[in-house]
Parts: sequence; structure tokens; C-alpha cells
Amino acid sequence: MPFGAPFRGLVTANAPLWAGEAEAFRTYWDWPERNRESDLCWLARQCHKEFWGGGDAKRRGLFAAPLEDMSAAFEKIGRGVSRHRVLAMAAQLYQEFSHYCAFADAYDAIKTETDAGLDPWRLKDGSWPENDELSKLRARHREQYGEIGRRAHKLTEGGYCGLFREGMALKGRSAADDAIAAACTKVHADEFGHMLAGIADIAHEPLSADDWAVLSDLTTAQMRQRIHMRNAQFGYPLSEARILEILAGEIEPISFDYEQAARFLA
Ligand SMILES: [Fe+2]
Ligand SMILES: [Fe+2]
Repeated sequence: MPFGAPFRGLVTANAPLWAGEAEAFRTYWDWPERNRESDLCWLARQCHKEFWGGGDAKRRGLFAAPLEDMSAAFEKIGRGVSRHRVLAMAAQLYQEFSHYCAFADAYDAIKTETDAGLDPWRLKDGSWPENDELSKLRARHREQYGEIGRRAHKLTEGGYCGLFREGMALKGRSAADDAIAAACTKVHADEFGHMLAGIADIAHEPLSADDWAVLSDLTTAQMRQRIHMRNAQFGYPLSEARILEILAGEIEPISFDYEQAARFLA
């Protein structure tokens, strides 16, 4: 099973950082500087991530990359490319585009007539420096560490679903919060699955002690950068001082749901 001592050690190393990412959203929701414009700003940035993210070297994003890969595989299905591989591409395209739609729907529900509409092509350059840093860090890890770098990326995808879990809890507070909660509810199960797919990967090919140590270093480095990325996405609700405390471990860690994970992987 994937939940042996090395895996539990990896969870222990990352759990305070997952909590740190979640604290950025929790602080934002009731932050005095939160307003309609700031909501539209973080939602547009989330839409950028859902449409153009994904770590594809050619920057094709989460829509075009699986679509082009599927077209390229079309004539090779059963002739070198497994049908399950193609089915996984189709599922990825469907899920990630549905995430874009969910957050774009929340954006549309919150915007007024004078606010700009969403256009995925205009969003293409809608990243921000801390997000670019995360992308560069992950690319470096994939280049330097190959397969372990790829697994680290998968394991930190969504940061234990902090945004989606915290966003789901907003239901019933206001019309804007309901729109955000609806989007987060739609996305949560998929993204929890994407993170667990990273875990399942590890279960299938046992790692050496050295590999586990590298995986721990890479995932915690990515998670530390994720806290900066999220804090910037939401307009810096956490102070620099608080971020330093979080990075120093002064935070209650998230408790990893081993039972839910085991059910998912069964
Ligand atoms: Fe997504
Ligand atoms: Fe995903």
C-alpha cells in the first residue's frame, strides 16, 4: 500500500505547508480589503491556471495539450498507444475544461455590466510573478530529476485542494460566496483525485530511500512557493511576517485523510 512510513513522512513534511496555503484563502475571505474587484482578479487568475496551466513545455495549456495529444494518438490507438492512455487524455480535457467553466461561471455571477468579460485568449498572459516562479521551479525539477520531478508536480497539484475545500465552506454567506462555493464544490472531487493519482503513481513503482528524500525536498520546495503564489493571487492577505512564521512551521498542520485516500485508490 502507498501509506507506508516513507509516504507518511512525506505527508508530515507537507502538511504544515498545505495548511499555510489554506490560511491564505481563509484570511482573504474575511479580509477588509476584499471587494468585487479583488474577487474578479483572483477568479480571472484561477481561470488562467485552469486554462493555460499544467506545466506543458510548449505552453499549450490544459485544453489544447490533451486535445492535440489525442489527435496525434488517433491513428495509433491499439497500435502502440493504449486506449486507456487516450481515455485518460479525454478525461483530463473534460475535467480541466469543466474547472475553467466553473470558475468562469463564478466570475460571471459576480461581475457587473461595467466589468470586463472573460476571454481565455486574453487570459493567456494573465499569470503573475509568483505563479511564474512556481512554474519555473517545477520545470527545473522535471528537468533535473525526471520522473521524480514529475511526481513531485503531481503531488503538489492543488496543494491538498486547499482552495476548493476552503471555498466550499463559503456557502450561505452572500451571493458572491455562493458562486465561489459552487465552483469550488464542482472542482474539489476531481482535484483530490488528481493529487491521489500522484500517490497511486508512487504505489505502483516503489521508490528507493534516496528517491523519497528527493521527493520530500522537491514537494516541500514547491509547496513553499505555492504559498507565495496563492498569497499574491489573492492580493497578499497574509503579511510577510506571517508567511515567515508559516514557513518556520508555526501552524497547525492539515490532517491527511488516509481513509478517503484509501477509498479513492481502492
Ligand atoms: Fe483543475
Ligand atoms: Fe487538475
